[in-house]
Amino acid sequence: MPHRGAGPDDGRPHTPWTTDRIWFGGDYNPEQWDPATWAEDDLLMAQSRITTVTVGVFSWSVLEPEEGRFTFGWLDATLDRLHAQGIQVVLATPTASPPPWFTLAHPDALPVSPEGTRLWHGSRDTYCAAAPAYRRAALRMAAKLAARYADHPALALWHVHNEYGTLCWCDHTAGAFRRWLRACYGEGAAGLDALNEAWGTTFWSQRYSTWRQVLPPRATQYLHNPSHTLDFRRFWSDELLAAYREQRDEIRRHTPDVPVTTNFMLPDYQNLDLWRWSREVDVVAVDHYLGSPDPLATGADLAFGADRARSFNGGRPWVLMEQAANLVVQPDRLLTKSPGASRRDTLSYLARGADTAMFFQWRASRSGAELHHASLVPHAGRRSRVYRETVELGDTLHRLAEVTGSMVFADVAVLWDADSWWGLDNRCFPSGRLRYPDLVRETHAALWRNGITTDFAAPGADLSGYRLVLAPGLYLLGDAEAANLDAYVRGGGHLLLGCFSGVADTSHRIRLGGFPGGLRETLGLTVTEWHPLPDEVSLALDPWGHGRWWAEDLDVEGAEVVARYGDGPVAGGPAITRHPYGEGTGWYLSTVLDAPSLTELVGTIAAQAGVSAVLPDAPTGLDAVRRRMPDGASWLFLTNFGAEAATVAASGHDLVGDRAIGPSLVLAPGEVVVIREARPAG
Ligand code: GAL
Repeated sequence: MPHRGAGPDDGRPHTPWTTDRIWFGGDYNPEQWDPATWAEDDLLMAQSRITTVTVGVFSWSVLEPEEGRFTFGWLDATLDRLHAQGIQVVLATPTASPPPWFTLAHPDALPVSPEGTRLWHGSRDTYCAAAPAYRRAALRMAAKLAARYADHPALALWHVHNEYGTLCWCDHTAGAFRRWLRACYGEGAAGLDALNEAWGTTFWSQRYSTWRQVLPPRATQYLHNPSHTLDFRRFWSDELLAAYREQRDEIRRHTPDVPVTTNFMLPDYQNLDLWRWSREVDVVAVDHYLGSPDPLATGADLAFGADRARSFNGGRPWVLMEQAANLVVQPDRLLTKSPGASRRDTLSYLARGADTAMFFQWRASRSGAELHHASLVPHAGRRSRVYRETVELGDTLHRLAEVTGSMVFADVAVLWDADSWWGLDNRCFPSGRLRYPDLVRETHAALWRNGITTDFAAPGADLSGYRLVLAPGLYLLGDAEAANLDAYVRGGGHLLLGCFSGVADTSHRIRLGGFPGGLRETLGLTVTEWHPLPDEVSLALDPWGHGRWWAEDLDVEGAEVVARYGDGPVAGGPAITRHPYGEGTGWYLSTVLDAPSLTELVGTIAAQAGVSAVLPDAPTGLDAVRRRMPDGASWLFLTNFGAEAATVAASGHDLVGDRAIGPSLVLAPGEVVVIREARPAG
């Protein structure tokens, strides 16, 4: 079964990444420890069946203690020792944390905030990726590592940098931003005219008459020009990508057969256009930190991260590069995961296509900024519950090797669009409540509560394989993307578009003549006015549902009204509509439904689109996902995130408990099973 449409052009990896066992391990920083601890690491890693560790992520100051003087001895010894233990290595380039000498030698390469404050070393990520000195130093380090370890037998994957995403507003940035803009809009006066036109610079007297006047959107008196800030976000995503590619290409010269990646930070860290980035890595690797002690919220959150990771990777098995053995609640809290929760969560990532279970980090640090961060080996060492669970997890993962390489397939996709996020992440809006990540997260969670397996897709992707596509908050919509969605519905697809969509074009200029621009005919309606609402207002819909925060005036031009506003500023007007169009149906939701109403609406539309849950009778919180092999083998992953025991119909062999299951099964709260299913006859 081919995977259906992940990105606009779902690039195949240059060097495919595959594995025949689940990678288990995490960030390993032996440079923080002494030989006695290394010896203990060897023992504990063997005992907990660690397969893979990530080495070197923040080791620049140890690898290059002075400019141009390299000390690789400890890393040689580490890789040799790990190899001797049968452990493979994800080798990182340490470029996310330049050493102090770098700051003093190249102060111009430090990051500058929008207010013009230059940030000093003392933390990590203290560089501007547009600064030539930083780029040279980073590339030189990557080249040294690649040359030295190209033939090392422990090397399994390259990990370039760490969580790209640091932005800067300095003069190097200004120069790079202008180069990027000239490449987009054209050189010289004609290019500048095009930029003035696209950004609407006649408003507030912002017209540029030379390229030198164009600056990063630094701190200013009042609101920024939103077209300017949008292009700045796009620029930084591309500039960071260029920095990644430089290192990647250098590494590939030395090791063309070793896959290269970098770790994306999910769920809400959005300085990168991840569709674009995903085409440039050999395998998508993500860091995902859960933050809620509530199991149901955890299940939804985990699925939100994991479904995106899989989709960014074109549906292929992906790398979970970091998670935490405990909960990280930003900004100031670390909560203990309850016993068994780490295994529950880890297997749930595997359910959604991860073929690795990697953590930050192997051993808890004694000092440094993250000295209290969770780890597989806590400060108390082997006598701790967490370490005992590490050993158990290693055992379980060992038994799951047969699922590697299998894939997850979905009939439904939620659209994910960096431009809409960046467009909506702005102060000049009618409502601060319409936050793009929240709108998408809530839509995905409604599908999750319905037990429906979901992909993410880009608005320009080939959507024809999906029965249903949901597009919340698609604020910024290009003509090509609108045509793509129109063709999808015309061809038989079901589309649910959320409110405040199709509002602006790709330059962040308002689409004139009513909304959603480009999709009015598809949906059989025109939005003529918005009504942002105070938080305390709840809109009762008729015959069912509750809306919040937002209402719209709709002129219905062919669509059927599914629900009307029962009260509020547009009482009696259409709130939810349905438009049979071509072979398909265009649905429109003009308010933000509360969670129960959205769950009901999504369930209704899914049923009409012919989409069913993996286990239709399962209670909410019983997460069921199937992984399949092309030869027909399949595994059903069941995880109970609910508070009650759940009974489901399922049969086969449970790999976690190594026991036969069927014809039904009771899962206790927090329990997870992985069932090898019988192959269909014939
Ligand atoms: C990640 C980062 C790790 C560690 C971890 C802590 O974002 O890559 O180095 O800082 O967070 O949660």
